Amino acid sequence: MKTYILDNEIKIFSYGEPIETEGTIKLNRKETFFEDELNVKYTNDKSSFSFKLREEDLVYGFGANLGGINKKGRTYKSYCTDDASHTEDKNALYGAHNFFMIIGDTCKGYFIDFPSEILYDVGFTDNSIFSVDIDGEDFEVYIIEGENPQVIISKFHQIIGTPYIPPKWGFGYFQSRWGYKNENEVREIYEKFKENEIPIDGIFLDLDYMEDFKDFTVSEERFGNLKELSSDLKNQGVHLVPIIDAGVKIEEGYDIYEEGIKGDHFCKDENGKPYIAAVWPGKVHFPDFMKEDTQRWFGLKYKVLTDLGIEGFWNDMNEPAIFYDETALNDAIESAYLSKGENLDAHTYFKLKDKFTQLSNKDQYYQSFYHELKEGKKKNHDVHNLYGYYMTKAAYIGLETLLERKRFLLISRASIIGMHKYAGIWTGDNSSWWSHLELNVRMMPSLNMCGFYYTGADTGGFGGECTGELLVRWMQFSVFTPLLRNHSAIGSKVQEPFSFEENTKERSKELIKSRYMLIPYLYSEYMKSISEKKLMFSPLTFEFPDKKLSDIEDQLILGSIMLTPVYFKNKKGRYVTLPQDMLEISFSENNIKTNLKREGIHYMDYSLDELKFYLRENSMLPYVEPSQNVKSMNIETLKVIGYIKDKARYDLYDDDGISLDIKEKYCTHIKVEYQNTDWVIDVKNTNPNIKEIEFYLYDSEGSLSQRTIKIK
Ligand code: GLC
Repeated sequence: MKTYILDNEIKIFSYGEPIETEGTIKLNRKETFFEDELNVKYTNDKSSFSFKLREEDLVYGFGANLGGINKKGRTYKSYCTDDASHTEDKNALYGAHNFFMIIGDTCKGYFIDFPSEILYDVGFTDNSIFSVDIDGEDFEVYIIEGENPQVIISKFHQIIGTPYIPPKWGFGYFQSRWGYKNENEVREIYEKFKENEIPIDGIFLDLDYMEDFKDFTVSEERFGNLKELSSDLKNQGVHLVPIIDAGVKIEEGYDIYEEGIKGDHFCKDENGKPYIAAVWPGKVHFPDFMKEDTQRWFGLKYKVLTDLGIEGFWNDMNEPAIFYDETALNDAIESAYLSKGENLDAHTYFKLKDKFTQLSNKDQYYQSFYHELKEGKKKNHDVHNLYGYYMTKAAYIGLETLLERKRFLLISRASIIGMHKYAGIWTGDNSSWWSHLELNVRMMPSLNMCGFYYTGADTGGFGGECTGELLVRWMQFSVFTPLLRNHSAIGSKVQEPFSFEENTKERSKELIKSRYMLIPYLYSEYMKSISEKKLMFSPLTFEFPDKKLSDIEDQLILGSIMLTPVYFKNKKGRYVTLPQDMLEISFSENNIKTNLKREGIHYMDYSLDELKFYLRENSMLPYVEPSQNVKSMNIETLKVIGYIKDKARYDLYDDDGISLDIKEKYCTHIKVEYQNTDWVIDVKNTNPNIKEIEFYLYDSEGSLSQRTIKIK
């Protein structure tokens, strides 16, 4: 074991010969001796260590995984997994986010830099033990100390690097569905948004646009005029965002396949032949994204689509997901033949059934193909969690060149800490379940802790049947998440706002309009959070450190405001804990209502016809009039609601929203003070687009004063 210290005093314990994961940025590490405080044990090629947990300790982290904000009482697996059924009994989703904090008498954060499987048992088997089992001997553990969770997070974010910055239009509303079968349908969908005056910034294209599920192809028959479609929509401020899958179809004459073979770009099996798996198109090869020349090759292939004017992509199935391989499928078929005419008892029947139902994503597949890394040849299993990362890095490198350093939208399904520098993530194939709305709420702070800020869930749920009520409740939350996309699976109930009954359509429309009113604020909060290395979505107790509040996981702080989503059906409101006096704000159809609420626990009405949240004491919230899209957003008149007992300050950040190298950062520093029975307002502004600011200021008693300041 070697030990190091970093400039910001993070300690590194390095075991064996760790593989470079790019999980951290280049760091100035100094070799320094530390006792092995983890007391790592090795048995059967696995390493393990554990922590003592006390009843009152809190555990946070693990990014995209199930469970609450406090991760105690569960097991978690860090292994990028394609499992569309995110039920209570599961312990792995699409991301591998190995950062956690134990907060009790002392506060410590841990980052395990390791690309394969890790199992965490956080007081599940024994409530006083948190055990970590690492499937290997070569890894590093970063130990981060700090007086509170925010300090730990900020130190951690210093070493993992700044998160991806989407274009500003990435904060608009996106409509998506697997099953928009041709250009006409996409145009029709857009027309309906226009007709209903529902704002929108983009339509995602799923597999349907491709020819036979082949990456970087466009179906001539169904999407023959994609360039025209893309430019028509873009002229109206709407972007197309096509999907790209990890598997490349094996087909003679298909250029990507042929170039991949010629250029030796595919992962190999144990005999050195390109590994064959099956995904959407049937048999595929997987590009070996861990090779730099493969990254460059694949990344530049996005040109097929950028040439059509496209500036946004979603990388999918990059855990990588495998439906089956030939051996396992044949074995299942063989067993079925052998069973024909047999009298199967329970054991033999279930065994046969499992051969088919458990064909996808079998452990054995990930043991049977290889990557070439700087460190040599490695089995996929041993570096499994890096696959989606390198696919997405490849896209980033390509797009950076192809779009000449203009920003692009890029999200990936699989991820590891480190990928946050290159793209956002969506939280995968959830369902139209109330519990998945709740999961979305609870996951946001954990994702931020692990560096993922540009993120959101499939609003309304991907699988299953979404009701109007669920859609509206979900939107009441996801209008605050940086990625706001309504996406659903082929075969499920259609889910565009106008596909529901009239009142759901109207409510959705109003919520989306509210989103556009809040984009300047959300963009500002996003950019400030990533540059100041703090969470955008915080658990209540991080901002109001009172032990009693640590149980509250369904109220989140987002800068000046507190979110209190309703995530149960047939509810007309909910209990809200106000840790201080706050101003209740409700946006509804061209109307903003406010109400002063005093510290304490209250039952608050929260109807389907509004967007409700709370403005913190001595805080301000800027907003604008709604627009049809980000391109047409007008911030000439900025409005600000303040709830100010003595003084408040808000710094509104802005920029051109489109260049990767931000040259001009605009800032509007707003200071408001209540002095001698009047308001003193001080604004320093460098944003050329703001001409005036309208203030709606509420004092400690909730009395409103209005002021308008012209910006010179
Ligand atoms: C995967 C994705 C989902 C997509 C589907 C078809 O399940 O997670 O979002 O719609 O594949 O491409």
